[in-house]
Amino acid sequence: MPGVCIIGLQWGDEAKGKLVDLLTPRHDFVVRYQGGANAGHTVVVGEEVYKLSLLPSGVLTEGVTSVISGGVVINPAKAIEELAELKGRGVEGLEKNLKISDRAHVILPWHFAEDRALDKNTTDGENIGTTQRGIGPCYRDKVARSHAIRIGDLYRDDLLDRIKHIVTAKMPVLRAMADGAEVEELDAQAIYEQYREFAEQLKPHVCDTNDMLLTGAEAGKRILFEGAQGALLDVDHGTYPFVTSSNSSGVGITSGSGLPAKYINHTIGVVKAYSTRVGGGPFPTEQDNEHGQQLRDQGNEYGTVTRRPRRCGWLDAVAVRYTARLGGVDSIAIMLLDVLSGVDEISICNSYELDGETTRAFPSHVDDLRRVKPIYETMPGWSEDITGCRSIKDLPENAKAYLKRVSELVGLPVSIVSVGPGRDQTMLAQDLDQLLP
Ligand code: IMP
Repeated sequence: MPGVCIIGLQWGDEAKGKLVDLLTPRHDFVVRYQGGANAGHTVVVGEEVYKLSLLPSGVLTEGVTSVISGGVVINPAKAIEELAELKGRGVEGLEKNLKISDRAHVILPWHFAEDRALDKNTTDGENIGTTQRGIGPCYRDKVARSHAIRIGDLYRDDLLDRIKHIVTAKMPVLRAMADGAEVEELDAQAIYEQYREFAEQLKPHVCDTNDMLLTGAEAGKRILFEGAQGALLDVDHGTYPFVTSSNSSGVGITSGSGLPAKYINHTIGVVKAYSTRVGGGPFPTEQDNEHGQQLRDQGNEYGTVTRRPRRCGWLDAVAVRYTARLGGVDSIAIMLLDVLSGVDEISICNSYELDGETTRAFPSHVDDLRRVKPIYETMPGWSEDITGCRSIKDLPENAKAYLKRVSELVGLPVSIVSVGPGRDQTMLAQDLDQLLP
């Protein structure tokens, strides 16, 4: 059983980091395979709260190799900052335990400026509301091929020439994007020196992670794949164009990690017990009212990376069923169930109405998704504090009924239930416990 995947089935922030952290000790490798420092993972270990953006949550577990594979886009300054913070807080063995792919692409200073400028200019009239971490422009340059730098390039003799070439090409673009506003001149020499310094600091971590992971998988090592963002933000299969620039659904695992699908044995789809979204784009079950505010307050729904208030709403079983099928999900983890305590009546969207027809299909075009009317069923809530429950059978009857109904609507068994941020506030269904390595 070499491969277990954790992927988000909504718009990110499903508390995947906590599950990855929990399952890490059962594995030899933990692999982040897409996205970059746009992600935000909060992991609570005892009294300590760790907030990571770029490094895999697995780095908190000694003896496990955490991997940032080739599909990730890396801001080296951020990697160094997070490493320094962890070292400062006593996390040991990082040189040995964190490996970074020499194939991963590097986020460079111009990507931040482009991210800011591009987001004001979507053809769709609504801003994507990116995290402004340079993610989209870096992926664009990767795919365009002519103006990209990979981690491995940072160590090569022609780095200065490459940077000069790109700076010459980028300056007119940045000026055009600035629409008459002053643009700071990019200094190729200074950028070169800074990135060489970053490269030196990251050197103990950099290697050919494809070879390392393939060799590990062939030898039967246990691998945990850590998805970032959520499947509805997938660039090909999400709510395009209101998406991130990588394959954040299950389809990105093999391309981003460099490991073939035959090493994936169990995929856990992570579902928040309600829905949230940060940034622009359609959100059929959004509750821009007192219900949404209650969820935001009880769930402390503010972005880990940007601190933006998250948009909140009811669970959308149409969307989750779609992303679960897309990702070949085997079982679902329901997170933040405790946030629903005290909600008198809980709604779940079980289908959409589109142009007078009822449908359970998730529309492929954003305009159709904007027009759907969610059809809800309601269930009675529970008032008990469930944060102390340690077994699914201890949950209030209404909470159990809610889990059962979500499972029916999505069409998959519930393998994990989480009732708080702590490692111990997690219940694993027995079947999963036996199935995992
Ligand atoms: P980008 O990934 O910074 O380009 O942002 C694109 C969209 O994805 C925006 O709506 C962001 O708010 C959203 N997004 C990116 N990363 C995350 C995440 O980790 N959680 C939730 N939303 C995210």
